[in-house]
Amino acid sequence: MTFEGLRVAVTGAGRDTGRRLALAFAERGAHVYAAARDPAAVTSTADLAQHGRVEAFACDLARPDTVRAYAAAIAERTDRLDVLIHNGAAYLSGPDLLDAADDAIENTLAGAGTGTLLLTKHLLPLLRASDRADVVTLVSGCGEVGNHRSEAHPAFYAAKHAQAGLAEILSHRLRPEGIRVISLFPPDFVQDGPRTADSDLTAQSVVDCVLFAVAQPRDCFIREFRFEQLRR
Ligand SMILES: NC(=O)c1ccc[n+]([C@@H]2O[C@H](COP(=O)([O-])OP(=O)(O)OC[C@H]3O[C@@H](n4cnc5c(N)ncnc54)[C@H](OP(=O)(O)O)[C@@H]3O)[C@@H](O)[C@H]2O)c1
Repeated sequence: MTFEGLRVAVTGAGRDTGRRLALAFAERGAHVYAAARDPAAVTSTADLAQHGRVEAFACDLARPDTVRAYAAAIAERTDRLDVLIHNGAAYLSGPDLLDAADDAIENTLAGAGTGTLLLTKHLLPLLRASDRADVVTLVSGCGEVGNHRSEAHPAFYAAKHAQAGLAEILSHRLRPEGIRVISLFPPDFVQDGPRTADSDLTAQSVVDCVLFAVAQPRDCFIREFRFEQLRR
């Protein structure tokens, strides 16, 4: 699978799955505009990539000014964007509504909810300039209707439902333009571990799903990846 010459943006790319995604696309020939809240963390991601294929940017999705600045910085460097990956999202734990402080709740919704929407909005002109644009969102099982399995805070559920709702309507509305909107709804997954049927889902398998969907020819609009959760 080669992504030679593709222009790819990834949020939350300073560690974990976002870093894996940035490096996976860069290894296959893409040029990646990787963003994270912490400039040092995303610079480390860029340093891990060969041939300077990953450029580092600061973007805190919970701060609209930095979201706009990230989109503008990409626009200064390229006249099109082929893949936008919404990976960054703050996890919030505690099953009871009272388990989290107001600012943590606000931050959770502002980042995954408003931040995802604003970044899509501000990058849409560049996506429209591509002849093979994909918008990929790492949602979560917490964004599925009727999925109650996680102990995450209700604000995290709300934020992931916001991402799922946005992706759902955009998939429908952007389909006539040939822009694919691809969402993944994984259960809890681990960064490293065995890839066997009696093990937790791994980040590598999640990344492989993204690579697979983006690699499909343009007649193939994969809208969602749903996962059966391991029951112990
Ligand atoms: N791991 C799971 O079990 C699981 C399951 C289902 C879905 N997901 C989703 O998959 C994605 C990646 O998961 P993960 O396990 O790699 O996540 P993670 O380890 O919890 O890391 C979250 C990532 O999002 C970034 N982030 C948090 N708030 C942000 C903000 N306001 N602006 C920009 N970036 C922000 C973090 O950056 P910092 O380093 O600055 O904190 C970090 O890079 C997330 O969207 C997550 O919700 C994960």
